[in-house]
Amino acid sequence: MDFNLALVIVVITILGIGLDGCHSKVVQFIFGDSLSDVGNNMHLSRSLAQASLPWYGIDMGNGLPNGRFTNGRTVADIIGDRTGLPRPPAFLDPSVSGEVILENGVNYASGGGGILNETGAYFIQKFSLDKQIELFQGTQELIRGKIGKRAADKFFKEGRYVVALGSNDFINNYLMPVYRDSWTYNDETFMDYLIGTLEKQLKLLHSLGARQLVVFGLGPMGCIPLQRVLSTTGNCREKANKLALTFNKAVSELVDDLGNHFPDSTYRFGDAYDVVYDVISNPNKYGFQNSDSPCCSFWNIRPALTCVPASSLCKDRSKYVFWDEYHPTDSANELIADELIKKFGLLNSDQGGAPSPAPDAAPSPDVAPSPEDQ
Ligand SMILES: *[C@@H]1O[C@H](CO)[C@@H](O)[C@H](O)[C@H]1NC(C)=O
Repeated sequence: MDFNLALVIVVITILGIGLDGCHSKVVQFIFGDSLSDVGNNMHLSRSLAQASLPWYGIDMGNGLPNGRFTNGRTVADIIGDRTGLPRPPAFLDPSVSGEVILENGVNYASGGGGILNETGAYFIQKFSLDKQIELFQGTQELIRGKIGKRAADKFFKEGRYVVALGSNDFINNYLMPVYRDSWTYNDETFMDYLIGTLEKQLKLLHSLGARQLVVFGLGPMGCIPLQRVLSTTGNCREKANKLALTFNKAVSELVDDLGNHFPDSTYRFGDAYDVVYDVISNPNKYGFQNSDSPCCSFWNIRPALTCVPASSLCKDRSKYVFWDEYHPTDSANELIADELIKKFGLLNSDQGGAPSPAPDAAPSPDVAPSPEDQ
C-alpha cells in the first residue's frame, strides 16, 4: 500500500516535471516607457513621472488610476489582447511572483525611461532600458530556481518580447537644453550613440534567450500637444518629427540586420508614424474631433504637464487623439495598435490569431463622470 502510494506520487511528480517542460505558456516581456507602463512608476515613490492620480485610468476597469498614462488601454495592451496573449503585470506589482510570471509574463516599462541611462534624469526615479534588462535577468534567475534551467530556457525562448522606447531620449533629453547630451552631440552623433546603445541592448536580449522580438518606432513626437504649445506658432515642431523619422529608419535597418545576423530569431519593426501623422492632420477622417490639445487639461493653462484631479476633461474622450500633453487616448492607441497588427501581419501569419474577447477597457465616455460640464 505504502509502496503503491509512493509509486503513484513518484509517477505524478515525474509527469508533473515533464508537463512543466513541455507546456510552458507563451507570455510577453515588455520593455518600454510611459506609453507601455502599467504601474511600475506608481510603485516608485519618488518618481515625478506618475499616473497615480485621477483621471488616469478613467476608462478602464473600475476607473481608478492604475499606473497607465492614458484614460484606457496602452498600445501593448491592445496588441496582446488581439493576439490572445495575457496582459503582463507591472514588475513592481506586489502580486508578481514566479507563478504569476509563468502565466502572464512581466512588464518592466517605466514612465520617463529611455534607451539611454541619462534620459529622464529629472523624473528622479524610473527604469532605463539597461535597468529593465537587468531586472529581466533577475526574473530569469527566479524562474530557473523555480522550474529548472531546461524548462526556463524553453519558457524564455518561446516568450514574446516588446521593446518600445526612444521618445524620451529626445523629448526628455536631447531636445532639452538642461541635459548634457543636448550640447555634447549633434543630430547625427546623437543618433549614432542612441542606435549603437539600442543595438547592444537588443544583442544582450538575444544572448539572454529572446527569440521573438518586436521593436516599436516613434510617432510624430513634434505633434504632441506639449511640443506644439512650446512652438510659437502652435504647429508641430518639424525638428522633432524629423528626428523621429530618422530614428525609425535607423531602427528598421538595425532590426533587419539583427534578423540576418540571428537566423534563429524573428525580429519585427513596427512604426505607426504615417498613420498617426495622418490622424493628426485629418482627425475627422478617422472619427476624431481634436488632434492638437489634451483631453485632460488644467482649464486653459498650458502646458498642463500632467493630468490632475483638478483638471477638466473633454466631453467625449473618444474624440480626442491626445489624453494629456504627451500621451494618446485609448481610442488613438487602438488605431495605432490596429495599424501595427496589420504591419506585423500578426493575425494572419501567427498561430492563435483569433481575436481575444472584447477588452474590459472599452471607453464609455457617456457614463463616466466628468469634473467639468461644459
Ligand atoms: C546604465 O545603468 C546600468 C544599471 O542600471 C548599468 O549597469 C550600465 O552600466 C549603465 N550604462 C552606462 C552606459 O553607463
